[in-house]
Amino acid sequence: MSDTPIGSGSAENTSSVSPVASSGVSQKGPLGKFLDNVMENNPYFAAGGGLMLLGTGLAVARSGVVRASNLLYRQMIVDLEIQSKDKSYSWFLQWMSNHPHRISKHLSVRTTYIQHDNGSASTKFALVPGPGNHWIRYKGAYIKIKRERSGKMIDITNGSPYEIVTLTTLWRDRHLFNEILDEAKGIALKSTEGKTVIYTSFGPEWRKFGQPKAKRSLPSVVLDEGISRGIIEDVRDFMKNGKWYSDRGIPYRRGYLLYGPPGSGKTSFIQALAGELDYNICILNLSEGHLTDDRLNHLMNNMPERSLLLLEDIDAAFNTRKQSGEHGFHSSVTFSGLLNALDGVTSSEEAITFMTTNHPEKLDAALMRPGRIDYKVYIGDATLYQVEKMFLKFYPGEFELCKQFVDKMHDLDVTVSTAHLQGLFVMNKDQPAKALYMADTLRNQNNFL
Ligand SMILES: Nc1ncnc2c1ncn2[C@@H]1O[C@H](COP(=O)(O)OP(=O)(O)O)[C@@H](O)[C@H]1O
Ligand SMILES: [Mg+2]
Repeated sequence: MSDTPIGSGSAENTSSVSPVASSGVSQKGPLGKFLDNVMENNPYFAAGGGLMLLGTGLAVARSGVVRASNLLYRQMIVDLEIQSKDKSYSWFLQWMSNHPHRISKHLSVRTTYIQHDNGSASTKFALVPGPGNHWIRYKGAYIKIKRERSGKMIDITNGSPYEIVTLTTLWRDRHLFNEILDEAKGIALKSTEGKTVIYTSFGPEWRKFGQPKAKRSLPSVVLDEGISRGIIEDVRDFMKNGKWYSDRGIPYRRGYLLYGPPGSGKTSFIQALAGELDYNICILNLSEGHLTDDRLNHLMNNMPERSLLLLEDIDAAFNTRKQSGEHGFHSSVTFSGLLNALDGVTSSEEAITFMTTNHPEKLDAALMRPGRIDYKVYIGDATLYQVEKMFLKFYPGEFELCKQFVDKMHDLDVTVSTAHLQGLFVMNKDQPAKALYMADTLRNQNNFL
């Protein structure tokens, strides 16, 4: 022991450990007495090196005690950490706010704002556990919940503070963590079951838009003969062929263009299709000013899972006037930005993009490449086929009146959007004869556009 090099430590080392040594030595147990004895009889201890050696030894012994109690703590207690970037984070907060046995003094409010179709809005408040400590009792076990906000770290994707929730319970109750997460997930998914979640962009990230909507049924959108079936078959076929794409090293994506006049059911059809496929839908409107090329690219590469992408009014990217800064055109997605975004989508899952436009003549032929737009279909004003189907949808079983209505539309020979047709039927709810009588008014509908 005497030849150990530790004894020749520098003065700096000696001074840093000496307080430990002195405090340790002050309570003299058998070890202390033994050390006293050694010190007296060993010349090394006359020098500072001896003191340092002693200090090191005691420090090791002390940290041993600390480690032992940590070990004990770890044996009995188990933590679960949920970070705010994880999907289960909001599920858990929601679960917690519904949990009846909580003792918390810190609550946060989470407000959801819903804009209804008719333009009215309503607001809902949920009280979720705020930052701080909370205790709950779950299935007989006590669980401590700590919600922390990191002041320094910011989630770069959305600029919100980075948060962590830590659940702590006894080791023997650790299986409860899984049960809680399953329960929380169950509640979260139940609220969207049979519904379509609509996401829109909020700065650089996707946010849910309002509450999940009840799925719109596909047959409720009446397109011209065979169009709906054609699209659905194509999408389903594409979804089955992931292996074909990966075997050939082709990006697994497909683009659809629905073009035609407004009010023909393009948006409604895509939403109904998402519901039919059990997908959510992410909507970006290129004619709205806040999108930039970078943002479009980022959003398209960071889509929530199981979502269709809907790019509305893509002709806005081909508007040459906006680049010259003329008033009224703020959109800053450019043609090349759109192409880059379409080409750049890399996803392990299939990437399905729907695009709509009322002005196909503005689009550039470069869009019509495989992987950009693979399927293009015209969705036009109401045909007689659609008139008949829609009439019977609103007035089931009224075959005779339906025939008269179709004949009248034929004679009128006007172009009417399916949206206008729907307007007439809604106005004459349950009154097919009156709808027939009022069919003439459709002649003037175009004036309202
Ligand atoms: N073909 C259609 N079948 C059923 N409803 C339609 C149809 N076309 C339009 N509508 C109705 O008209 C409104 C506008 O339709 P929308 O899907 O937004 O048209 P677009 O996107 O082609 O402009 C919606 O309320 C929709 O229900
Ligand atoms: Mg639309």
